[in-house]
Amino acid sequence: MTQDQRRHAPATARNREPILSVLHRHLPSQGLVLEIASGSGEHITFFAQSCNPGLMFQPSDPDAAARASIDAWSAALGIKNVRPAIELDATWTDWPVSAADAVLAINMVHISPWAATEGLVRGAARLLPAGGVFYLYGPYRRDGRHTAPSNAAFDDDLRRRNPTWGVRDVDEVAELTKANGFSEPIIEQMPANNLSLVFRRLAQ
Ligand SMILES: C[S@@+](CC[C@H](N)C(=O)[O-])C[C@H]1O[C@@H](n2cnc3c(N)ncnc32)[C@H](O)[C@@H]1O
Repeated sequence: MTQDQRRHAPATARNREPILSVLHRHLPSQGLVLEIASGSGEHITFFAQSCNPGLMFQPSDPDAAARASIDAWSAALGIKNVRPAIELDATWTDWPVSAADAVLAINMVHISPWAATEGLVRGAARLLPAGGVFYLYGPYRRDGRHTAPSNAAFDDDLRRRNPTWGVRDVDEVAELTKANGFSEPIIEQMPANNLSLVFRRLAQ
């Protein structure tokens, strides 16, 4: 008997609808959406089912068990517009995808070293055409301050687990994206003190 490789991240059931409602307003109706750090795959399979079938989704994660979970969810749900998950570490200077119309990274920036965010932004800038969407979701500080006591406690916990992790400041991220040819972010408040940051690739 083959083992079920699907993983379940409980937060995805709570935040997928609010995230989808933001994505519906910003994603194109067709083309390729590359997700970095897809984790269990529950987000991308949910988004793909809720979008125009002409919009193709490419999941990725550096973790092999995550990729197995993503592919297992896609197979179980019988989804046609999600490609097999690929190995992709945002810090790589050469990504195994050469173009995309949108790049998403949900809950990655605070649970990886800052170098991963630098790689993520540079990679998105390489792949996206002018007008292409770069979407980030997660907890962020604003003007150097946490937006809620629970985010401050979460930040302390992250930094205890790994000193290179931590809740980043929107300004710090916006400075990096601007230096790599992106617009100022559209910032949307999300449930549970998270933010959506939506950037557009500027014409060069
Ligand atoms: C907290 S999980 C988030 C997963 C999923 N996006 C979600 O919201 O449920 C963080 C993910 O980031 C991935 N990750 C960590 N470092 C990374 C890197 N350098 N490049 C790409 N993904 C990375 C991990 O493998 C993990 O799947």
